[in-house]
Amino acid sequence: MRIAVIPGDGIGPEVVHAALPALDLLNHELGLGLSYDVFGWGADEWLATGVGLPEGALDMLRSEYTAVFLGALGDPRVPDMAHGREILLGLRRGLDLYVNHRPNQLPDGLVDIYRENTQGLYVGVGGTVPQGGGVGVAVDQCVYTRQTVENFVRYCLDRIAAQGGRKVTLVHKANAVPHTGRLWQEVFREELSRHPGLTGTDEYVDAFCYHFVRTPMRYEAVLAPNLFGDIISDIGAALMGGLGLAASASICPETGFGLFEPVHGSAPDIAGTHRANPYAAVMTLVLLLDHLGHRAAAAALRDSLDQAARTDATTPDLGGNGSTEEFMVAVLDRLPMAI
Ligand code: NAI
Ligand code: MG
Repeated sequence: MRIAVIPGDGIGPEVVHAALPALDLLNHELGLGLSYDVFGWGADEWLATGVGLPEGALDMLRSEYTAVFLGALGDPRVPDMAHGREILLGLRRGLDLYVNHRPNQLPDGLVDIYRENTQGLYVGVGGTVPQGGGVGVAVDQCVYTRQTVENFVRYCLDRIAAQGGRKVTLVHKANAVPHTGRLWQEVFREELSRHPGLTGTDEYVDAFCYHFVRTPMRYEAVLAPNLFGDIISDIGAALMGGLGLAASASICPETGFGLFEPVHGSAPDIAGTHRANPYAAVMTLVLLLDHLGHRAAAAALRDSLDQAARTDATTPDLGGNGSTEEFMVAVLDRLPMAI
């Protein structure tokens, strides 16, 4: 099993290179048979060559790799984030990674958010009509195909049911955005009927935000179209205690290919200061190991990460005095090697 590592920009390389020794250790001790190659795609390469995602990259990833571990993209020298869009959206769309999963480990329990990751308002259908040197009219269309909604909802419900889940909430805005809203509601009802063990409810996204902030444990698993999912998963990250903690997996259920990345960006404000929290990057590796079927390794890494997070080796964003590297020493020290 080969993993493509894309450290990216800013704190991306810092947290990725801090987290990888944990993977090396588990791989070596448990004989997981993993190997990885590091790719320097990001702002430096873009500025030097004008290339974000190199020609043939998608085919190479498809044929030679099982997963991508990505740090973050974004650099003040590329103000419009053109390289980031080319690489990130290129990977998400090109590899059809239509399920984005973000587990939100909250103080009282876990809330899983599943976001459709390829269509909706992010399809790039639209345009502008100029007016006086600026924009007079702007259109971004929200597009969903039944096939994508069905595949997404089916995969999520099967997975939630297989994990013993009982309650699923669909987030939408069918009162104001009726066409795609109706498609989502229809498919959700159809797919739920195959899972007698699951109770489904649906909520308007604004009401959901209100309840999610006040009483997050009302929810167990949440399904959302692209834009709503993007927004509510950042609320999830805030409820968890900050961007430094949140991890995500983008998966194509048909091929099994996965892109694993922390939710945070490249944090240029703290890059180079050794204050980047590697928790989210390590948690990303937990999701990656789990996805590859290395359950024991994932659980061990997760335990040591959570133990380390209860020490004062945490980084400043969590109130500790530790550096990125010191926190990782605390994690590695706690990895039990005789699993
Ligand atoms: P950001 O997530 O990089 O930073 C937001 C705030 O959270 C900053 O104050 C930062 O210092 C802090 N923060 C983030 N991660 C942290 C960590 N691991 N440890 C400690 N503090 C952390 O979001 P921002 O500032 O909006 O974006 C910066 C750049 O990253 C932009 O170029 C943006 O486009 C890009 N970006 C990339 C993403 C990706 O690659 N998936 C996601 C979000 C933003
Ligand atoms: Mg987002």
